[in-house]
Amino acid sequence: MTILEVKNLNVSFNLKSGKFSALHNVSFKLTKGETLALVGESGSGKTITMMSVLGLLPNTASIDSGEIFYNSTNIINYKNKEMQKIRGKEIALIPQDPMTSLNPLYTIGNQLLEVINVHKKLYGKEAEKYAIEALNAVKIPDAKERLKSYPHELSGGMRQRIAIATAIACDAKIIIADEPTTALDVTVQAQIIDLLNEIKNRFKTSIILISHDIALVSENADSTAVMYNGSIIEYCKGKELFFNSKHPYTQSLIESLPDLKNEKLKTIKGQPPSIKDIFAGCPFAPRCEKVFEKCEREKPVLKQITETTNTACFLYY
Ligand SMILES: Nc1ncnc2c1ncn2[C@@H]1O[C@H](COP(=O)(O)OP(=O)(O)O)[C@@H](O)[C@H]1O
Ligand SMILES: [Mg+2]
Repeated sequence: MTILEVKNLNVSFNLKSGKFSALHNVSFKLTKGETLALVGESGSGKTITMMSVLGLLPNTASIDSGEIFYNSTNIINYKNKEMQKIRGKEIALIPQDPMTSLNPLYTIGNQLLEVINVHKKLYGKEAEKYAIEALNAVKIPDAKERLKSYPHELSGGMRQRIAIATAIACDAKIIIADEPTTALDVTVQAQIIDLLNEIKNRFKTSIILISHDIALVSENADSTAVMYNGSIIEYCKGKELFFNSKHPYTQSLIESLPDLKNEKLKTIKGQPPSIKDIFAGCPFAPRCEKVFEKCEREKPVLKQITETTNTACFLYY
């Protein structure tokens, strides 16, 4: 069952220097109880895609066209008041550093209990019990003591856990984790990813895992969308992105990963484009080793090329 579907989403920025297209016909589906990874270099449009879903685009951005279905209802034109019923409750965002979403002046307990009062209509001892259960679910030790802590007293990894506990306390149906592990060290990164997997299995939560780290997502997603220059250039079903990918960009990302043999790393030539660059053809063409004449002239669209893989590349059609 599809819980979230984004269809042909086009978003642009209206800046003093002109109007620039940030997302081009972005489409994807999130299946209930699964993890969809959104992967791509910095600036490829991952966060703007999610901000569109959450109704949190900056004032300078506008949705030009598209549809966003949450449980089959198109929410793209929802006003702030309607979005507030969904955001943080049905669809929860785990930001890169939850310090930005936690209030530094209040304890973790104050903030978690408020959420539980509002969403669960539980108060006093009952609410506290529920809060402790949520902290236990995200494996925060000494849960009762932690309720008295202030956000700055916790490590980055612990703050991520609090953000996930808050999502659980609201019974969030979708968790969007935007680069949740980028600020954390490698061991803590792995713990947070394990925790998200566990939450998915236990509560049947659907997860959108956003990352620039293709190695991290490939093993932890049920499907992966690869973004480049505001477009999804490849979509692979299954956990085997490394075997299923066909797009030269995805393959370059994989080849540029460090491996244990310590061989010389391949790098992708050139720089990722900016939204101010306009391409008549494939936006990856200037950096692609397999480029041919048509690529500069026409823009490839996503086409299904194997059972598991949809790719926007003229090598295949
Ligand atoms: N507030 C903004 N004003 C102008 N351009 C922006 C703004 N936010 C993002 N962009 C541009 O939109 C593109 C996509 O950004 P973003 O979604 O944040 O990328 P990612 O999350 O993949 O790193 C980038 O080219 C970025 O420069
Ligand atoms: Mg981002």
